[in-house]
Amino acid sequence: MDAQTQQKIGIIGGGLMGHGIAYLLAAVGHEVAVFEPAAELRDTLPQRLQAIVELLDDDPALFRRICAHDALVPAMRDATFVFEAAPEKLPLKQQIFAEIEKYVAPETILASNSSAIPSTEIGRHLRHRERVLGTHFWNPPHLVPLVEVIQNEKTSAETVRATMDLLRDAGKVPVHVRRDVPGFVGNRLQHAMKREAIALVASGVCDAETIDTVVREGFGARTAVLGPMEQSDLVGVDLTLDIAEVLYKHLDATPGPHPFLRAKIKAGKLGMKTGEGMRKWTPEQADAVRRRLSRFLAAQAKARKAGLGK
Ligand SMILES: NC(=O)c1ccc[n+]([C@@H]2O[C@H](COP(=O)([O-])OP(=O)(O)OC[C@H]3O[C@@H](n4cnc5c(N)ncnc54)[C@H](O)[C@@H]3O)[C@@H](O)[C@H]2O)c1
Repeated sequence: MDAQTQQKIGIIGGGLMGHGIAYLLAAVGHEVAVFEPAAELRDTLPQRLQAIVELLDDDPALFRRICAHDALVPAMRDATFVFEAAPEKLPLKQQIFAEIEKYVAPETILASNSSAIPSTEIGRHLRHRERVLGTHFWNPPHLVPLVEVIQNEKTSAETVRATMDLLRDAGKVPVHVRRDVPGFVGNRLQHAMKREAIALVASGVCDAETIDTVVREGFGARTAVLGPMEQSDLVGVDLTLDIAEVLYKHLDATPGPHPFLRAKIKAGKLGMKTGEGMRKWTPEQADAVRRRLSRFLAAQAKARKAGLGK
């Protein structure tokens, strides 16, 4: 990467998402400075980055382009882009953005990785709101290609364009979300499906294992290469209407989260961390799921990189 295209990038928060975002941007040649207030997280950053290097067979030389800071100001120095991956709390994010604005140029792009908080709210009190937007990476950000680039009512077209370019050049697949709606696009789709899955299990139509088998071995088997709109066109929009006419009135429309979900929480069934959630888990079974996912995503990431001739 030449000096002109290399950017100085600030990352706020070196946790789960922040370290992966730092990695993927350093891997393509940018200089990355991470502000992480917790000493333990700063200390473990090299190990966590090393684990990604090993997973992806990357060149460890990229570490030279990532440094961790215990203060905001040095991490923001000369930054052209800032990606915020701090805890999901609006007052905290607002305070962080107000601080950042004091130390960066008016045109520095300020992107929040919030899963649900609109960047409209995060940037509400800033002077230069046209450079604020959402960049919703998916976990793990160094492996999942998609990034939703969410424009809010104040974001300029130039901010969207520059952010999409940076992410595309880093090997990501950015999509432009034109309005700052809750859940953006990906989580709305994901949770529409989960809502129906929970209702099917709650009403005894099938068990949770069956839901996972149906998705993984059924339409999920083709989802990576065929989106739902392509699929509608493949079978015909007329067939899609015929099915909608019959089916939609039967789909779950429980207002708010399903009581089945609340009952799980009340019973302490929180998922793998408590040994039971939707399904039952031994620690070994839970580890096997994590390994399966990590290996699958890493194999896909490597194949993409090989395809790009990197
Ligand atoms: N975990 C996911 O799957 C996921 C996916 C997409 C988006 N997100 C979003 O990304 C953001 C970060 O999530 P995460 O999972 O990485 O959380 P995390 O808890 O792993 O990391 C957050 C980091 O921010 C640090 N931090 C705390 N206060 C700070 C401050 N004042 N300034 C800077 N850093 C501070 C913490 O020490 C921690 O290391 C959240 O907004 C979350 O909603 C998470």
